[in-house]
Formats: sequence, structure tokens, C-alpha cells
Amino acid sequence: MEVIRSAAEMRAWSEQVRCGGAELCLVPTMGSLHEGHLSLAREARRRADVVAVSIYVNPTQFGPGGDYERYPRDEKRDLELLRELGVDCAFIPKSMYPPGDSTFIEVRSKLTEVLCGSRRPGHFAGVARVVAKLFIIVAPHRAVFGLKDYQQLLVVRRLVRDLHLGVEIVAAPIVRDADGLALSSRNRYLTPEQRRQAPALHSALRAVEAAWKAGEDSVHNLVSLGHRTLKEQAPDGRLEYLELRHPATLEGLEFVGWDGALAALAVRFGDTRLIDNILLQHERDA
Ligand code: PAF
Repeated sequence: MEVIRSAAEMRAWSEQVRCGGAELCLVPTMGSLHEGHLSLAREARRRADVVAVSIYVNPTQFGPGGDYERYPRDEKRDLELLRELGVDCAFIPKSMYPPGDSTFIEVRSKLTEVLCGSRRPGHFAGVARVVAKLFIIVAPHRAVFGLKDYQQLLVVRRLVRDLHLGVEIVAAPIVRDADGLALSSRNRYLTPEQRRQAPALHSALRAVEAAWKAGEDSVHNLVSLGHRTLKEQAPDGRLEYLELRHPATLEGLEFVGWDGALAALAVRFGDTRLIDNILLQHERDA
């Protein structure tokens, strides 16, 4: 596996791949890799001849008082995992921001105003900025993003469309522990008691889904049910939001209609913020 640490080298490597006629798929990550990331890399392997994984803890997407400093970093282990998986290239830039970097990229739309966008000001601007830089440097044919960060996926798709970046964005399913907790690098911050309660995020979403499948379509009632489930099963969790929104536009809804809905939530256990979501989708005839 190539380990590349500069943008110039990365660009040259990618050019060589493309000139050889191979298709390149990128998996952007912030490292501290877990099974969720590895599933993205496996998806990338199915989708292209050559797989690159980037590892970069992007400072611009963390707010003041966020967990940038304490975000887990373990490059040695990350590289071992990527080697075992047969990834072709690990791109580990020292920085993505040259001194005095003064170019900003921001998706200004409903997509970044609601859910995590309204609770983490500047977060999606930081994501858009670094993902645009990664796509320009690596020039992949495709890139894989996890559905756990559903809103991020929509923002990246909009970014690619608006800037004509020509990268196909592939969505990969959420990977969960056996008890339903979505895998996240932040799960390691949880105390044993918080970890015991954390699967309540998924249970609350499943309760909403079950009620909807049983015929309840009022967003108000579905959200109330989700709140109750969470309160019962995660008394130490502080709910930041639990919302149902249109799955493509993130517009607010009163009823879940034919387009279905995204049910998404964010919960804090102490300083640790966890997110999860589920798509309420009608089964369509083939
Ligand atoms: O999802 C992440 O890990 C990050 O937001 C990303 C896409 C790697 C950008 O820093």
C-alpha cells in the first residue's frame, strides 16, 4: 500500500492510475478506523479497480469547544487495518490548509440549515471545504460516504453537482453493534453506563418506524413517541433533536407522505454527541 503525505504526490499517483485506464474510488475518513469505515472501503473495492482512503482530522469542521483536540488518532493501527483490507493507497496529508488559506466553499441551502447544521454552526462549511479539496487533489471517479452522516451525504452530493466535480457519490449502509448502536469513533468516549443506554437512539428510531408502518403518519405523534422511548431507555441522554424531514430536501413535514421521511436524532451523553437516523420508505413495486 502506498502511503502518501503530500497533495502533489497524491495528484501524481492519481494521474498515473487514471492514465492506466483504472477507476479510482476514494473513502474520505478522519481515521481512528472502525468496522463502519472498513465497510466503506469494502464498498469502494466493489465499485472500482483502485481504492484510496484519506485520513485527516479536519479542524475546520469542529466548532469552538468541539472535540478536535481529543478526537482519537491512531495512525499505526489505521494503516494496519487498511493494509489487511488490501487498500491501494492511504492519503494522510499533514495539513489541507496552506498558511494563509483564504478560500471558502459553503453549501448555502436548507440542507445545511437544519438538524446538525443549526446545532453545529460552520460544521458543514468545514466539511464542504475539505471534501472539495480532497476531490480536487485525488480526482477519484467515485467516493463512498456512510449513511450514518445522512445530512453530510446530501451536502456532498449538492457540492459535487454545483461545482461540476464529476465524482459519483456512493452511499453505504450504517454498520451497527449487535445491540443496535451505530458505530462511531466517538462511542469510545462513553462510560460503561452511557454505553449501556446508547442503543436507545436506535430503539427510538425503530419505535418511530414501527408506529409508522402500523399506520401512524402524523409527524407530531411519531416524534412524541420517539421522545418517550428515548426518555425511558436513556435517562442520562440529553436529546438535542429528533426530527422527521423530507428525505431529499430536508424540508419539515406534518405528515409522512409518499416520499417517506428521514427520521434523525442527536443525543448527548455528557460531552459526547451521538447521531443516528433511519429512512421511512414505502416499498415500491418493482
Ligand atoms: O465523515 C467524516 O469522517 C468527515 O466529515 C469527512 C467526510 C472525512 C470530512 O472530513
